[in-house]
Amino acid sequence: MGGKKIFLPESELPRQWYNIAADMPTPMEPPLNPGTGEPLGPDDLAPIFPMPIIEQEVSQERWIDIPEEVLEKYLYWRPTPLYRAYQLEKHLETPAKIYFKNEGVSPAGSHKPNTAIAQAYYNKISGTKRITTETGAGQWGSALAMCCAMFGLECDVWMVKISYNQKPYRRIMMETWGAKCVASPSTLTKAGQKILDQDPDSPGSLGIAISEAVEAAVMDENAKYALGSVLNHVMLHQTVNGLETQKQMAIAGDYPDVVIGCCGGGSNFAGNCFPFVRDKIYGKNIDIIAVEPASCPTMTRGPFAYDFGDTVQMTPLLPMHTLGHGFVPEPIHAGGLRYHGMAPIISQLVLDNLIRPMAIQQLETFQAGITFARTEGFISAPETNHAIAVVIQEALKAKEEGKEKVILFNWSGHGLVDMAAYEAYMSGKLVDHTLAEDEIQRALENIASLPRPKQYTG
Ligand SMILES: Cc1ncc(COP(=O)(O)O)c(C=O)c1O
Repeated sequence: MGGKKIFLPESELPRQWYNIAADMPTPMEPPLNPGTGEPLGPDDLAPIFPMPIIEQEVSQERWIDIPEEVLEKYLYWRPTPLYRAYQLEKHLETPAKIYFKNEGVSPAGSHKPNTAIAQAYYNKISGTKRITTETGAGQWGSALAMCCAMFGLECDVWMVKISYNQKPYRRIMMETWGAKCVASPSTLTKAGQKILDQDPDSPGSLGIAISEAVEAAVMDENAKYALGSVLNHVMLHQTVNGLETQKQMAIAGDYPDVVIGCCGGGSNFAGNCFPFVRDKIYGKNIDIIAVEPASCPTMTRGPFAYDFGDTVQMTPLLPMHTLGHGFVPEPIHAGGLRYHGMAPIISQLVLDNLIRPMAIQQLETFQAGITFARTEGFISAPETNHAIAVVIQEALKAKEEGKEKVILFNWSGHGLVDMAAYEAYMSGKLVDHTLAEDEIQRALENIASLPRPKQYTG
């Protein structure tokens, strides 16, 4: 048996982020100003983001320096270890080698601080006093709460109501780091009130929570908004993970045939796999699989179209795979995967066949999470279980084909505050959800009148 964990010394922490925009075979279509239908300019974003973030959002530079202050904070938990899942391999009797990058070792328990640190830093140096945001399962909100505490910023988090009720410990984590957390839809914003007027029992959605957080930032001149996924600068910051992984795979003497990650807005997936997508663009043969829930099948069943990033139509129009901004997904336990859209960069890479999307049912994901816990020990976040389900499928396929494939996946977070979800699964309370086609068509009606991208697939 070789080593179980591959560590990198702190001196090997990457000092630049990788910007895939510089290598994409098809350039992305621009985001649009919904009022004019024209491509967005930096001024359109200035009320909600600080200028260094806006510059990164539109940058075409391949490598972007990580500021010293951000590197210092990354060292609190980075570089993160790469593990070989020997016991899972043995259990599955597969000839495949399975590696996973452990992003659950960050203080907040997931990959989310990789961008939260950077966003808090750029806001701090730009004079922001307060950051507003949304959160689904609470991983992003807790990561941002921690990073705001590190840089002395106030933090207000709108948490999707279904998760707020299912996951009280995440709220308490946010409060421990000094943030305020409210259930969304809330009565604190016009956006939340509008939703509650239509449906007082709304379970909330990421789209609604984004509307509330954006509105709150726009109403306060000392505040800016931060998004935990979807946008280009978030994907960029996450690549510190994949750049480490490439060095660690080289130490292990292996290179992946298959790279897998779960996808909500796309950031953990992007972070680990974009450096490998780059290799694929330049000729490597790799299967790169993005896994989403069957109950929120954005990439596998949503068209590539222009849509709002939020429910109440406050954001720019983004070119992305979408189920429509009014879509409210089933209240599955993987709260971080309940988003109606997908990162524009990932959407474009799916169109270019560089990424292969797959949808997985909830019960299979929990079964996979339990298999992983009983072999490798770690209890995974319900989002991460989506990736593990496909890892198991691929490892069993390798067994059938008798191939010694190398499978890599991003273990995006631990599930230690998601135990209610495991209990619901083990006591037989969870069910699978497949979205009916007419439900998708109904949800898409509200984007029918929006401008269409050149590569529209509706
Ligand atoms: C542990 C974990 N993995 C994955 C995700 C999905 O988000 P993203 O696609 O932005 O990585 C989340 C979101 O909350 C998460 O908490």
